[in-house]
Amino acid sequence: MGYTVAVVGATGAVGREMLRVLEQRAFPLERVVPLASVRSAGHRLPFAGAELTVQELTDESFDSVQLALFSAGGSVSQRFAPVAAAAGAWVVDNTSAFRMEPDVPLVVPEVNPGALAGPMLGRRIIANPNCSTIQMVVALEPIRRAAGIRRIVVSTYQAVAGAGMKAMEELAAQTRAWARGEPLPKPAVFPHPILFECLPQIGSFANSGYSVEEEKMINETRKIFGEPQLRVSATTVRVPVMVGHCESVNVELERPLSPDQARRLLAEAPGVVVVDEPARSLYPLAGQCAGTDPVYVGRIRQDRSVEHGLDLWVAADNLRKGAALNAVQIAELLRERGLL
Ligand code: A2P
Repeated sequence: MGYTVAVVGATGAVGREMLRVLEQRAFPLERVVPLASVRSAGHRLPFAGAELTVQELTDESFDSVQLALFSAGGSVSQRFAPVAAAAGAWVVDNTSAFRMEPDVPLVVPEVNPGALAGPMLGRRIIANPNCSTIQMVVALEPIRRAAGIRRIVVSTYQAVAGAGMKAMEELAAQTRAWARGEPLPKPAVFPHPILFECLPQIGSFANSGYSVEEEKMINETRKIFGEPQLRVSATTVRVPVMVGHCESVNVELERPLSPDQARRLLAEAPGVVVVDEPARSLYPLAGQCAGTDPVYVGRIRQDRSVEHGLDLWVAADNLRKGAALNAVQIAELLRERGLL
């Protein structure tokens, strides 16, 4: 049996990846409905050797849709995810619109598949976590299970693709201008030129002094791990990388765990690939993980400054495991559970 699947934001960086992932994972499809704003209505998108015609998102878009994958921004999800759910579709929402609502599960299939059960499913909306959170919790879950986590300190090095197609175009335009020896065009997506910069701002700043992205990492990690008091601190930074987020993750554990033990646990963990031969300059790289599915972990070492500390370097394709792949894996889990 195949499903009718709507992709909301199909012309965007994540939406296009959702189409690719649906095709690559051979998700059983009757029909794909690519939805975007009126600006893109009629545009063609390649899919499974043919082309799909983009339709404008309206209140009628979800008639006969069984699964709706949303990635068109928080306000679009706020407005249309309940419409899709009321029409009988399961919604997997990639935006932050519903993530912290107590009756919406926030799911990473390798980490908390159990969240996809019970009364939380009543709204028919499942939230896909923030890209940086997903890759961090996939890497930390095997360690957490073995040794418990007391505290996490993470710094991210995030690719521009996380800010959408316009952000990728902005970096490309700045790079072209620089190569021609011209002044950089005025930035529109980021507050400063991103070329040759590290911007310690992703989203606006809260009164806490943390950025919205940092608050997301802190709060979502606690929700996914089911540890509301977990001590987490984050610094999120945008870097001039096209696709692929990297993270420096420092964890203080409840119990001792050696780097070798961590390496073995991670090597066996679902969705994780260990790349950790520093003597040969082998460690996870954004450019090498782009276009692939796993979360890569390397530079695994003891943090000698605390009792039970480990340092890790984590990289993943933010459009795939950080967004589109995780969303489709949630849909696969809904199928396994007989819900879809
Ligand atoms: P469109 O291409 O028509 O603007 P990205 O994150 O890469 O910027 O992509 C955002 C996605 O969300 C695009 O597919 C965009 O469609 C879509 N989108 C933005 N605003 C709306 C809206 N008001 N209604 C429907 N889709 C929207």
